[in-house]
Amino acid sequence: MMSADKRLETARHAAREAGALLRAKVGTHMGVRSKDVRSNLVTEADTQSEALIRNIIASAFPSDVVLGEEAGASVGDTRHRWIVDPLDGTTNYAHGYRCFCVSIAFERDGAVEFGVVYDPMADELYEARRGAGATCNGVKLQVSHRDDLRDALLVTGFPPYKSLGPRSNLGPFSDFMSRAQAIRRDGSAALDLCAVASGRFDGFWEPGLHAWDVAAGILIVEEARGRTSDYMGQPATLDAGQLIASNGKIHEAMVETLRPYAGS
Ligand code: IPD
Ligand code: CA
Ligand code: CA
Repeated sequence: MMSADKRLETARHAAREAGALLRAKVGTHMGVRSKDVRSNLVTEADTQSEALIRNIIASAFPSDVVLGEEAGASVGDTRHRWIVDPLDGTTNYAHGYRCFCVSIAFERDGAVEFGVVYDPMADELYEARRGAGATCNGVKLQVSHRDDLRDALLVTGFPPYKSLGPRSNLGPFSDFMSRAQAIRRDGSAALDLCAVASGRFDGFWEPGLHAWDVAAGILIVEEARGRTSDYMGQPATLDAGQLIASNGKIHEAMVETLRPYAGS
């Protein structure tokens, strides 16, 4: 097996194993505590899931770097970097709301080569490889065709930091309330992106995101023929924080709405 294939197989395996761990513990004692602010939660499952994923990657590719939300970046060959969110949707998880996932991406020389997102409650494995399309449980994904923002179902999220001022997401939320058909807030950015790739949502935006939230999901949207960018319409980067992902057809209208909030 070529190393790229072996890495993708390793990612699938790690995502499924970590997802099984999360599924087994949901609704049990989860050791919930706050991180830097009261509403930024972490559970025992976050750390256990990350440790499990790190072990699987390290035993197959010991010199690769792993950047994980809970334990940070390991030391190694930075040309080969894994970007891991061991539990995306921790607040949902802590409340037993079954919308959460595991997200794993692999970057070679600074470009994401593949990404997998596993939803353990639905047993759905989303994946994309650059240039090879996106799938869910092996079925090809395609974004929606809706081309008018007024008919679009959008999804967004709010960072756990309770900023209510001009830097918050309330301004864009209010603007889209009058410009789009409807808005949802589901609590897992990685699954939100997979839902855009699947055509269930027409567009997504969110400020304050991290590389581990979006590394796999951005590629999954792009490989499902969607478009991603920052709030200025420039190509999305993993560390920009502000992200738009859409079916492409409503993208300019979303950029127009979000441009005034760029950099805020
Ligand atoms: C969070 C989720 C949520 C988003 C937050 C993220 P976490 O990730 O993706 O949907 O709105 O900004 O921090 O903390 O559950 O891994
Ligand atoms: Ca996350
Ligand atoms: Ca997380």
